[in-house]
Amino acid sequence: MNPKAHQPDSLPAPGPSALAQSEALVAQLRAELEAAGGWLPFDRYMERALYAPGLGYYSGGARKFGRRADDGSDFVTAPELSPLFAATLARPIAEALQASGTRDLMEFGAGTGKLAAGLLNALDALGVAFERYSIVDLSGELRARQRETIEAAAPALAAKVRWLDALPERFEGVVIGNEVLDAMPVRLFAFGGGAWHERGVVWRDDAFAFDDRPVCAAADIAFLAQIEAAGDDYVTETHEAASAFTRTICTMLTRGAAFFIDYGFPRHEYYHAQRAQGTLMCHYRHRAHGDPFVHPGLQDITAHVEFTGIAEAGVEAGADLLGFTSQARFLLNAGITEALSEIDPSDTARFLPAANAVQKLLSEAEMGELFKVIAFSRGLDDTLAAFSSGDRSHTL
Ligand SMILES: C[S@@+](CC[C@H](N)C(=O)[O-])C[C@H]1O[C@@H](n2cnc3c(N)ncnc32)[C@H](O)[C@@H]1O
Repeated sequence: MNPKAHQPDSLPAPGPSALAQSEALVAQLRAELEAAGGWLPFDRYMERALYAPGLGYYSGGARKFGRRADDGSDFVTAPELSPLFAATLARPIAEALQASGTRDLMEFGAGTGKLAAGLLNALDALGVAFERYSIVDLSGELRARQRETIEAAAPALAAKVRWLDALPERFEGVVIGNEVLDAMPVRLFAFGGGAWHERGVVWRDDAFAFDDRPVCAAADIAFLAQIEAAGDDYVTETHEAASAFTRTICTMLTRGAAFFIDYGFPRHEYYHAQRAQGTLMCHYRHRAHGDPFVHPGLQDITAHVEFTGIAEAGVEAGADLLGFTSQARFLLNAGITEALSEIDPSDTARFLPAANAVQKLLSEAEMGELFKVIAFSRGLDDTLAAFSSGDRSHTL
């Protein structure tokens, strides 16, 4: 067990079975730490904390997605906020399917299945012919939830959905990933005493703790040399897993498009002297904090996406960068206000929550500016209406 389980006063305490799950994960992590000589790079810790089979945050039983802390969830995502998100995203997806002459969809990290159900219904309503909707998720636990949501919300189309255990070598169609890149493990680096150190994890005084080691690998030294640290105690992240994932997807995609929606910045904003504490963030019961060692396996750990690295990875794999813009601009270009106007304003029970959610998705102070959409394509001649104005590819 974890004798000094972190329990910050500001966070609600987990129940006994959740605590037992976390303790089992702590025991596994400690064994791995010991076998590795007492120090693990942070990306390995994060990978286990999120995806250790049966025990990690995404692979264990935590509820995760929802609107309120009292339903046992930890955070809300755009597809959970409003069905208008899926209904709007369906338009550029339909355009990409039609322009590429393809008929398959593949969603990564499908959460509760709401986005899948919404897209299936919206594409059907738009009269777009599609054959299959494949879901790839590292979390087997979520499959049952996704199937249930899709069967309830899109029963006539559920037969088109399948779950993949491995990626095909080639894929023609449209790939979608909402808030998937931010859930990929990151490495941590800290600047101190005039030099860069890799920040890893040790077990000290009966608890996990950070521990910094000098950076030795030439590739790390070269990359970090480009970052202007604002002085001692500057901490940041690198995103090897998200780049490798993007490379894999853009290699697999032989015709069509791939859309990734997530919070983050281009490189020059990400590695900014003022972003001195990095972007690592944990979510538990709708409270955000910065301690990844609180109840391992029971809380989400995430980092913002460094979109220049994502763009480079996709282009290196041979895809074209189709566009990069804010979520607000993308959704407005794709017609979210028209979708909202289809709801009768006098039906206040439907209209008011929908208008509120759209405001959250678009507002600069909420998700509209921090969240971005990056898309890659193969075999598309033109851009899509959703990138027709406000494209920021030049900022990457
Ligand atoms: C923050 S959740 C987002 C869920 C959902 N897309 C939504 O917006 O509600 C991140 C999801 O990405 C999945 N994920 C992370 N890395 C993945 C990968 N390499 N392949 C497939 N799914 C992945 C996780 O298992 C998790 O379900």
